[in-house]
Amino acid sequence: MTIYEARYQQYLTDLETALPLYLPEQPREKGGLPVEAARYSLLGGGKRVRPVLLLAFCDLLGVERPAAMPFACALEMIHTYSLIHDDLPCMDDDDLRRGHPTCHRAYGEAVAILAGDTLLNRACEILLATVSLDLPGSLQAARLIAAAAGSKGMIGGQALDLAAEGKSIQLEDLRQIHKLKTGALIMAPVMAAACLAGASSEITMILENFASAIGLAFQIQDDILDVTADTAALGKSTGKDQRDQKSTYVALLGLEQARRHLVDSIGTARKALADLDRAGLRTEFLSGLTDYLLARTS
Ligand code: IPE
Ligand code: IPE
Ligand code: MG
Ligand code: MG
Ligand code: MG
Repeated sequence: MTIYEARYQQYLTDLETALPLYLPEQPREKGGLPVEAARYSLLGGGKRVRPVLLLAFCDLLGVERPAAMPFACALEMIHTYSLIHDDLPCMDDDDLRRGHPTCHRAYGEAVAILAGDTLLNRACEILLATVSLDLPGSLQAARLIAAAAGSKGMIGGQALDLAAEGKSIQLEDLRQIHKLKTGALIMAPVMAAACLAGASSEITMILENFASAIGLAFQIQDDILDVTADTAALGKSTGKDQRDQKSTYVALLGLEQARRHLVDSIGTARKALADLDRAGLRTEFLSGLTDYLLARTS
């Protein structure tokens, strides 16, 4: 195991310990079925890229773990809610997620919608509890996460993604969809860490460049994997984008050009890391993470 892998593993262990504590079980007879379904989706796998980014940047910038963890868990909850709703028949109509039947396949559509709502509301509670402790930067970080998940971020991107099905759109418009539907929730952990740390405007700008580049790269890679990956490794069905006539980098440009854009974005991210290095921050882990985002097969 490389040093990068060991550290990712440690972040995962910490997150897998914290997440269930932030969403405790609730008996069915007390209305807890959506909680059961939310736990099914939240605790049943996932790469945890967003909370790992948050913890890693908090470590980089000197934010203590107790201040960072609630933000990390709230973000993973918001992300998981977005996946549950994304998989619904009225959206991408998927049967498999994180190697298991999708939430609505396991619990039915109504409970899956409520499970998503549960995760979003729980995330709000966690963020508000943190803000009420008056930790430095916490209000700003919470606002930034809420905005990233909202209609000018992930939700807006999802709306544009659905509207672009079956249409031929310009690359610039597709880039914008990707930046919103996926980039926003990848940028949020990095920018939230910057708020919590009270980072300088110079460092914040470099972080923004890094996060924006890996956010776009992440969705381009997701588009590529839908065509090239193995369902078992990916934990979700492949070939769905073509079936749904989704506007993706692969559909618009072909595999080779999509890969070129991925490599370009990763190159931009690496330049930002070099800037962070020059500013005296240790970027070994982030460099490993950036390499992983280029090479990932799941
Ligand atoms: C999938 O996200 C949806 C996108 C925004 C591309 P991930 O690839 O991070 O999914 P999990 O969390 O690992 O399941
Ligand atoms: C989803 O993008 C982005 C979200 C906000 C959930 P996709 O629809 O491509 O994600 P997958 O491929 O289903 O994971
Ligand atoms: Mg989708
Ligand atoms: Mg989908
Ligand atoms: Mg996809």
